[in-house]
Amino acid sequence: MILFHRPLRPCSIQISRHALRALQSSSLLGLTPLETTITSYSSTPCRFSTSLNQFDVNSDSDKEDRFPVHHTKVNIAEIGRKGSHITLNYDHDILSTYHASWLWSNDPKKVTLPSGQRTCTPGQWRSVYDQPKIKSASIVYCGDVDNDAETSGASQIQVPGPTSKDCCHPLAIYGAQSPWVTAASFADSTKGTGLRPYLQIEWTTAQNGDSTTDSSSLFDVEWLERFRYDDSARANRREKTEIQPIHAIRRSGPPLRFYIQNNHCLEDEKYKITSKHEKDGLVHVNYQALIDSNGQVLESGLLNLLDAVFRDGAAIVSNTPRPAYLESDEENDFPVAHVAKAMSGGLLSHGALYGNIFHVREGEANSKNVAYTSVALCPHQDLAYYESPPGIQLLHCVGMGKGVLGGESTLIDAMAAAYQLRELRPESFEVLVKCPATFVKQRDGACMTYRRPHIVLAEEGYSRDNNKNIFDREIVAVHWSPPFEGPVLLPPDDVDRYYQAYADFEQMVDNALRSSEGSEDLSQYANDYTWERKLSPGEILVFNNRRMLHGRRGFSLQPCHTIEESQRHLVGCYTNIDDTLNQYRVLLRRSSDSIHVMNVCNESSILP
Ligand code: OGA
Ligand code: ZN
Repeated sequence: MILFHRPLRPCSIQISRHALRALQSSSLLGLTPLETTITSYSSTPCRFSTSLNQFDVNSDSDKEDRFPVHHTKVNIAEIGRKGSHITLNYDHDILSTYHASWLWSNDPKKVTLPSGQRTCTPGQWRSVYDQPKIKSASIVYCGDVDNDAETSGASQIQVPGPTSKDCCHPLAIYGAQSPWVTAASFADSTKGTGLRPYLQIEWTTAQNGDSTTDSSSLFDVEWLERFRYDDSARANRREKTEIQPIHAIRRSGPPLRFYIQNNHCLEDEKYKITSKHEKDGLVHVNYQALIDSNGQVLESGLLNLLDAVFRDGAAIVSNTPRPAYLESDEENDFPVAHVAKAMSGGLLSHGALYGNIFHVREGEANSKNVAYTSVALCPHQDLAYYESPPGIQLLHCVGMGKGVLGGESTLIDAMAAAYQLRELRPESFEVLVKCPATFVKQRDGACMTYRRPHIVLAEEGYSRDNNKNIFDREIVAVHWSPPFEGPVLLPPDDVDRYYQAYADFEQMVDNALRSSEGSEDLSQYANDYTWERKLSPGEILVFNNRRMLHGRRGFSLQPCHTIEESQRHLVGCYTNIDDTLNQYRVLLRRSSDSIHVMNVCNESSILP
């Protein structure tokens, strides 16, 4: 049947017997012993010898015939001096290097099933070698009929099966695919897809004949390509996740990226989104599409809501029932808690100061937060003084009587604004990246402080000059909460600089501030990108508190016939960002092939 198929134009190198034996004898693989050694070939057009650095690239290739288009075309361009690294050539123009230490650490055999944990770690090679070294390498193929392979028994060799696109492991530890597949079963499951390339590495074994280390590893090339870490791969990854103004909600209409071509909504097609933006520019999801009459969560509605919140930063849940008893102490009496728990996989969070469910209305709890008065709230994040501020915030409008004058809700995308600040005022951007603010919550019964810069960039590694390349680094978080800041403790030379930069950013995110001379462009940004609307009873405003700043206009209450008519009342709660992101990604994995997730602004970019 099937296995390491001889390419149409074989080149001179075989998988060594030694390497094959190592593969066969690995107890982790559970292999059937081979009786005969098989022959296999390195990737054409590369000719490659088992000794290091002896290879020869043959340029006249008939590569289109040899490599079916849906599998990565690859050959070995180079092995580094003393086996320190290997460079692969994908599609004949993308060169990508993998270090021996990286490959050794990511050997599929080192992933434990079914947990996905690594049991073999870099400290272990250090006890034997200085560092892992590649002795030889070849590209071998799987997935086509080869009579030789069948008669030799080679079809029983096991190789790592294909992994799904959201899988960080070099082994398929979940989902429909088996982690290890024999050539036969692999070929069955990929019938008609042609050859699948694998990178085989033979390691230089220890002088002392240590037997605890494997002498050979086998990598699915598709997985290797997904985890390329060369400069261009890292830049592409950033482009897919970093939030820019075209992703941001606006004063009018959906984010600009939905209008890229003649109002034709490319994004909706790409993500197979079923909920469309409403006139106010947000996606609305009906409560009944999320939670059925028995209280069961409906997965497709939930996915629509999570999609909208993680893509646009905010969404509305509409037609939410009014809680039967608003003064209840039981969180499950509140529909907003059901929505939040569905989003996070079961838990509310951050309830220590205000309760798991909090009521935003005048006079609440002796106004221990100015939100519990009628004053305007400038754009802010909640609980910025936590090391881990809330991820998703939900505010269910249960009262907005006709006697409420003002009280509109506002939102602005802080990540997109930070991106634009870097364009408009690079010096201010740099100050906000480098100067830590002091976030505080101190009052009777609360004593919290957390010191961190307002804008956080991804670290780029030891060899990059982080001082000079603020334009080359992805923005991965913004922390902004003016009412909850204490005295900054900066070097004296930085203090004025800090407040100037602060005022620049504030001008960009708060359209209630008057424009000053020279900052018209910043005020214009705030005007264009501030979403504002008065909530109606039954609506839940759901937003990512890491990405979005929320606020409200001040209001006054006109006397009316009933108390309800002159009351503004929101019921709120939070979820944790990690739990909610986990819920989203697990649902995505189950329901679609798209795994593209924008940055959720938790100081890390999303992989893969
Ligand atoms: C809050 C808050 C917004 C509102 O309670 O933190 O921002 O609309 N409330 O009252
Ligand atoms: Zn708030």
